[in-house]
Amino acid sequence: MKEIGIYIHIPFCLSKCFYCDFVSYSGREDMIEKYVYALCNEIIQNAEVLGEYKVTTVYIGGGTPSFIDAKYIAQILNTIYMVTDKSCIEEITIECNPNSITKEKMDVYKEAGINRVSIGLQSIYNDVLKVIGRVHKFEDFENALRIVNDSGIENITIDLMYPLPNLTLERLKNTVDYIVTLKDKNVKHVSIYNLEVHENTKLAFLLQEGYVSLVDEDEEYEMYNYIKDTLELNGFHRYEISNYSLEGYEAKHNTRYWNQEEYLGFGINASSFFRGARFTNIKDLDFYIESLTSLDRIKDVIVDEYEELDLLSLMKEYVILSLRKISGLDKAKFKYKFKKDAKDIFLEEINELKQDKLIDENDTNIFLTERGLEVANIVWEKFV
Ligand SMILES: C[S@@+](CC[C@H](N)C(=O)[O-])C[C@H]1O[C@@H](n2cnc3c(N)ncnc32)[C@H](O)[C@@H]1O
Ligand code: SF4
Repeated sequence: MKEIGIYIHIPFCLSKCFYCDFVSYSGREDMIEKYVYALCNEIIQNAEVLGEYKVTTVYIGGGTPSFIDAKYIAQILNTIYMVTDKSCIEEITIECNPNSITKEKMDVYKEAGINRVSIGLQSIYNDVLKVIGRVHKFEDFENALRIVNDSGIENITIDLMYPLPNLTLERLKNTVDYIVTLKDKNVKHVSIYNLEVHENTKLAFLLQEGYVSLVDEDEEYEMYNYIKDTLELNGFHRYEISNYSLEGYEAKHNTRYWNQEEYLGFGINASSFFRGARFTNIKDLDFYIESLTSLDRIKDVIVDEYEELDLLSLMKEYVILSLRKISGLDKAKFKYKFKKDAKDIFLEEINELKQDKLIDENDTNIFLTERGLEVANIVWEKFV
């Protein structure tokens, strides 16, 4: 039986962070119950399809899944269990904001089968958190970590971002030094995101008007090196451009993405990769809810973007996704999947990138060099 992952999108947050352009709403709490009902309907509409697969991972992201009442999370998971064999699911992750984690919620999550918790720490400095519009304080994170540990869930991942306003190199170093001490508090995985400043966000405005600023490129590069070296030294090996983990704790669900494996997304703006096609649901909360009031409607109504990838597009995408992993592209796996050698299809691109010392290869794999990891976008451009 083929395997598949499920992504669930919970588009609600207490308030909108200044840098964030994820599809999430604050002040629409009145819609939560209806949304969850619609989302469960969407899952049930796909029961037949899901029945042909073994669901091995579930990722509940957002938005802030921990913001809504935990009973809704249990309702969604119970719906998934109705349409698939629960015993095959190896990893169920939920994204949490530190100030919305409570003991009661964690108990419900654990009971519902969640075995991995992602906590959005972002920074350990309260003035940094404030200036990027986070609603939590560092003390909330410490409290949340204690609650998750007490619940018995032993697989915790945390999110950090850099550079950020008010984040000096010294402060970044202190942050990373603190992170590595959390190994004995079940922090097994760390995602470190390079800040993306999106147009039309409050942060873009604050930067543009000079109200806040970020470190210069040289200092950002020093931050990058300190993160990489310190995490590696302390046993968090880098296995993907932005992700580090203790051995054996690599994210199973996200690894599906980088291996170009199938997953179905449910909820507004949720993306799927299924039977050679990529598609994304509509963003409109009200329309989504209206469309899914019964079990009769079909998925097509709520799909906004749909693209069937031809063979060359699939191969190009496979190269880009594989190169995100530090181990890179496994030549034998490429050949098994596409019945062709990667080096025959992309000879010119590979040679040029090797000449520029952005990629390298050994007998089995093609991978980004240290330099390639720093300027990965230049590599991706060759394959789009
Ligand atoms: C959906 S959020 C995680 C859950 C929760 N909403 C939170 O923020 O704590 C996923 C992660 O993406 C990262 N992220 C969001 N916007 C970003 C941006 N503009 N640049 C870089 N990373 C970003 C943050 O680290 C965030 O934790
Ligand atoms: S809590 Fe997370 S999803 Fe919500 S606005 Fe902030 S970063 Fe975005």
